[in-house]
Formats: sequence, structure tokens, C-alpha cells
Amino acid sequence: MTIEEHLMEQAKRAADRSYSPYSHFHVGAALLTADGEVVQGCNVENISYGLTNCAERSALFAAISQGHAPGSFRVMAVYAPNVALISPCGACRQVLLELMDRGALVICQGSDLAATRTWTLEQLLPGAFDAF
Ligand code: THU
Repeated sequence: MTIEEHLMEQAKRAADRSYSPYSHFHVGAALLTADGEVVQGCNVENISYGLTNCAERSALFAAISQGHAPGSFRVMAVYAPNVALISPCGACRQVLLELMDRGALVICQGSDLAATRTWTLEQLLPGAFDAF
């Protein structure tokens, strides 16, 4: 199994933990750290809908909280079973840009395995607001 396949397996496990009683849209993310650990995240919704946290940000915030260095993450896998291909929301794209490695890759998969995509941060957010 490649590291990318391993990460996607972990993203699927995370999606199983999604707290999404309002949308019923499960999303899981798995982030590879510089020392080879995998940190998972899932979407966590709230009755005040705007307080919802996406899986991608949950994984990044968990990793930072656990002591992994901002900017050190080279790969994230994202999985969502309720759509053909999951694509990170705009808010997450800005956060990915700030907290992942400059050359990081984001691998996204939904129910259509043939539609799986790998994006660079530049592809996800071209011309981003970026002070660095
Ligand atoms: N969501 C994610 O967790 N990641 C994405 O890339 C897109 C959307 C969540 C937010 C909300 O809980 C649900 O999916 C429906 O938008």
C-alpha cells in the first residue's frame, strides 16, 4: 500500500466519525506529518450551522494542537462518500495554504474512485491572499 493509499484509508476512518446530523454529509481527512504520523479530522457540525468545522480544518487544527509545526504538512487525503468527488471549500483552501507546506498535495476522493484528484495548493487557490 502506498502512503497515499494509507492516508485515504485513514481519511475513510475519520469520515466514519463525522458528526453531521444536519447535512448527513460525512467527510474525513488524514494529514501526514513531517515525522510520518497521520492526524485525522472529521467534519463537526453545530445547530448554529455557521459554527461547523470542516474535516480538513479539524485535521490541521488537531495536528497543530498536538505540537506539529505549521507549514510542515506535505500531504492531506480527503474522503467523502456522499459525493462523486469531494473538493475543499474556500475557507479550508485559505487555511490549507497557511498551514501546509508550500508544495503540499491534497488528494480528494468520493464515491467515484475514477474521479479521484490530486491538487496542489496553487491549483486550489490561485492568486491567494498570501503575506508570506
Ligand atoms: N465539509 C467538509 O468537511 N469538507 C469539505 O471539503 C466540504 C464540506 C462539511 C461541512 C458540512 O459539515 C458538510 O460537509 C456539508 O457542507
